[in-house]
Amino acid sequence: MSMAGDKRRVGIAGLGTVGGGLLKLFQQAEPLGDGRLEVVAVSARNRSRKRDVEIGGYEWFDDPVALAASPNVDIFVELIGGSDGPAKRAVEVALARGADVVTANKALLAEHGADLAKLAESTGAKIAFEAAVAGGIPIIKALRDGLAGGNRINAVSGILNGTCNYLLTEMEASGRSFEDVLADAQRLGYAEADPTMDVGGFDAGHKIALLSAIAFGAAPDFSRVDVEGVDQVTLLDIRMAGKMGYRIKLIAKAERIDETVRAHVHPVLLALDHPLAGVGGALNAVVVDAEPVGRLSFVGRGAGAGATASAVAADLLDIIDGAARAPFGKPLAALKSYSSAARADEGRFYVRFLVNDKPGVIAAIADQLAKAGVSIESFLQDPAQGGTDVPIVLTTQRCPRENLDAAVRQIGALDVIAATPRVMPIEETSAKRAWS
Ligand SMILES: NC(=O)c1ccc[n+]([C@@H]2O[C@H](COP(=O)([O-])OP(=O)(O)OC[C@H]3O[C@@H](n4cnc5c(N)ncnc54)[C@H](OP(=O)(O)O)[C@@H]3O)[C@@H](O)[C@H]2O)c1
Repeated sequence: MSMAGDKRRVGIAGLGTVGGGLLKLFQQAEPLGDGRLEVVAVSARNRSRKRDVEIGGYEWFDDPVALAASPNVDIFVELIGGSDGPAKRAVEVALARGADVVTANKALLAEHGADLAKLAESTGAKIAFEAAVAGGIPIIKALRDGLAGGNRINAVSGILNGTCNYLLTEMEASGRSFEDVLADAQRLGYAEADPTMDVGGFDAGHKIALLSAIAFGAAPDFSRVDVEGVDQVTLLDIRMAGKMGYRIKLIAKAERIDETVRAHVHPVLLALDHPLAGVGGALNAVVVDAEPVGRLSFVGRGAGAGATASAVAADLLDIIDGAARAPFGKPLAALKSYSSAARADEGRFYVRFLVNDKPGVIAAIADQLAKAGVSIESFLQDPAQGGTDVPIVLTTQRCPRENLDAAVRQIGALDVIAATPRVMPIEETSAKRAWS
């Protein structure tokens, strides 16, 4: 790339939470990059919007694609968002002319990462995306540069969506419903007006697709991530799980099962001593299980201007230091193509029924489970919860999910069952073994 003297010229498209936070780092007394980086151009949707950073000194582009194409820009920073549309077009234009790209856009990378990496390889451009996963936690660097080389990574799991974690934490603490807590979070700016990407689990799905790719040396493939969000988690389940010694969390996980990889996002029950169970509010956390290093945990702010700008800054410095690696750790040709494992077929589960007529129903539930070969580990009924219908909750011993689902279908068809039964996996706490 052409350069003005020793300085690399930066163009920033998107001046919202992340872009604004990044500009602040450039405008502080000791600006980012020790004089080796200079912001020359910016783009956003609306030039006249009031912003809390000064943008008068930079060339303005209405069109981020035109900024990406500008020969005055050596490093293009994409902070618009969205898997397609202007963000994708602009990144493609920058990479195609050999300009390096830094982005925080997990949707774009999870859905088009392999194509973008191919384009970058063809022109020698770098593409870096530390801010795309877990905000301020440098988990991409830790996995790709610190761990993937010398270890066999067995699983990466985490709380990767701060909005969902905040909602679950608030529901448990305040005893309010999902809808109430979400409405408050939207009013306070903790949740988007359209919360689907977050509460539907898609955002966490994009992030685990990226972590999975780096941990297991494969190209990212969001279409293979099995996704369920928190929108069906009820206060009743949070309370009943709590009474049994568990906390419900939305966990994104990528795990090696034999020589296949399974990536998924689900609400799961964690025992209170699980390393992710105590991570509350909008925090993010990632736990890596690898050999020989063992278990590692990372906790920190997954969103917000400062945390995310910190990650974008690290990528910019890697690029000017010549330290940026291939985006998924290896050249595309060296990436494996894992077949994705089927849904975990065995484990322990939480099952909740709502019944409107108790006599005989417990025997009927036990009978169906016994017929399916599912053993009950613990059992709880709590007439104080659930209004007119009585919740009956049980946890199973390890059993095939298929058998449990078949029995639950039978039980759900009984007249006395008032609502669709709820089944959630219980995550094992193997952590204690790794730490002891
Ligand atoms: N917020 C976080 O904490 C966080 C954390 C990690 C990753 N990310 C990722 O970072 C990216 C940006 O997120 P954000 O929260 O900063 O978003 P945001 O606050 O909504 O800001 C988006 C910016 O993009 C601009 N923009 C939107 N459409 C545009 C278009 N068609 N052409 C030009 N500019 C356009 C907007 O312009 P106007 O200002 O004129 O409206 C705004 O400046 C996303 O990929 C997001 O997933 C965000």
